[in-house]
Amino acid sequence: MDKEKKVVLAYSGGLDTSVAVRWLADKGYDVIAYMADVGQGGDFKKLRKRALSAGAIKVVVEDLKEEFAKDFVFKSLKAGAVYESNYLLATALSRPLIAKGLVKTARKEKAEAVGHGCTGKGNDQVRFEVTVMALAPDLKIIAPLREWDMHSRDEEIEYAKERDIDIDVTKKSPYSLDQNIWGISIECGVLEDPWNEPPQDAYKMTVDPQKAPNRAAYVEIEFKKGCPVALNGKTYRAVELITRLNEIGGKHGVGRTDLVENRLIGIKSREIYEAPAGWILHNSHKELEALVLDRELTHFKQGISLKYAELVYYGLWFTPLKKALDGFIDKTQENVSGTVKVKLLKGTASVVARKSQHSLYKKEMATYDPGDKFDRSVAEGFIKVWGMPYKSNQ
Ligand code: ARG
Repeated sequence: MDKEKKVVLAYSGGLDTSVAVRWLADKGYDVIAYMADVGQGGDFKKLRKRALSAGAIKVVVEDLKEEFAKDFVFKSLKAGAVYESNYLLATALSRPLIAKGLVKTARKEKAEAVGHGCTGKGNDQVRFEVTVMALAPDLKIIAPLREWDMHSRDEEIEYAKERDIDIDVTKKSPYSLDQNIWGISIECGVLEDPWNEPPQDAYKMTVDPQKAPNRAAYVEIEFKKGCPVALNGKTYRAVELITRLNEIGGKHGVGRTDLVENRLIGIKSREIYEAPAGWILHNSHKELEALVLDRELTHFKQGISLKYAELVYYGLWFTPLKKALDGFIDKTQENVSGTVKVKLLKGTASVVARKSQHSLYKKEMATYDPGDKFDRSVAEGFIKVWGMPYKSNQ
């Protein structure tokens, strides 16, 4: 087979990537459709058939959920990475992993190119391509949606119909969705007007907080070195733990955010997000850190969290800076072990209790009750020296 003409395409099973399969095949490529399971749901059997009907010579499906949870999601959790205060980066974290899978498959299949179905104005094209450039600079990258001259969904549907590609046009959601175990990103449709409140039908993982139970649910989360390992005393693997927290958090309406965000490509866009497990875990992790990290490290790490979130959002996962920051973050997590109790109630996930064998909290220092060990006499001298530079001479 001609090596020059083989491409591995990141295939989601939607209209864009199904049309992309045929478009590449028409250009003379042998197309291998690559599907990474990161928890997006969907019937892979059906999608496999669809890729073949579109003209793929082979379909590769890989379950990457556990790797995604452990090597991507938990790293961002330890880092405290939140983009522009409201986005836990579910989509952004998945792209370097999927791109890594594309590269691996391209090598195995001796393909000369990889492709993706991202549009020309989003962040995801950048994330895919920068990752491929970092891992396999010799591979050619093809982005059919940037190249072809179809400019609407209708044109793509017509293209698919003319060529008998099995597409499912009836079930099209009015929104653009991207889902994985860490959450869902929802945009387009009425959401494009930032003055429109998101309609309830836009949400997939969470109930309307107003309709959530009036009774709170409590969950105890145990962390080891910054990673969650158990819920209510029972140990779980990463994916299972996240899935359970998504379920219970979703029932209580936890994890909705609404954000006008700055895209890497220079556009502002409005997107809503759901990440029930994500917010429960971030809130808990932060409170556990508050108990076990000293003040200077806590404050310094806040700056690192912002940088880390930016790197993830910008697609710079496989870069020297990101690797160096992981080294720093892992060092900070050595004592981040302990248990946090979270109360889930009508859209909120509040930490109500925390404990750790590494706790730096000293009740005998903090207390205003008898038993106080803090030596108040040293405070006066401290304040005199601390305030000296600011003492007015007048
Ligand atoms: N704005 C998010 C990001 O850049 C999500 C992008 C994908 N969103 C979607 N609804 N398809 O990471």
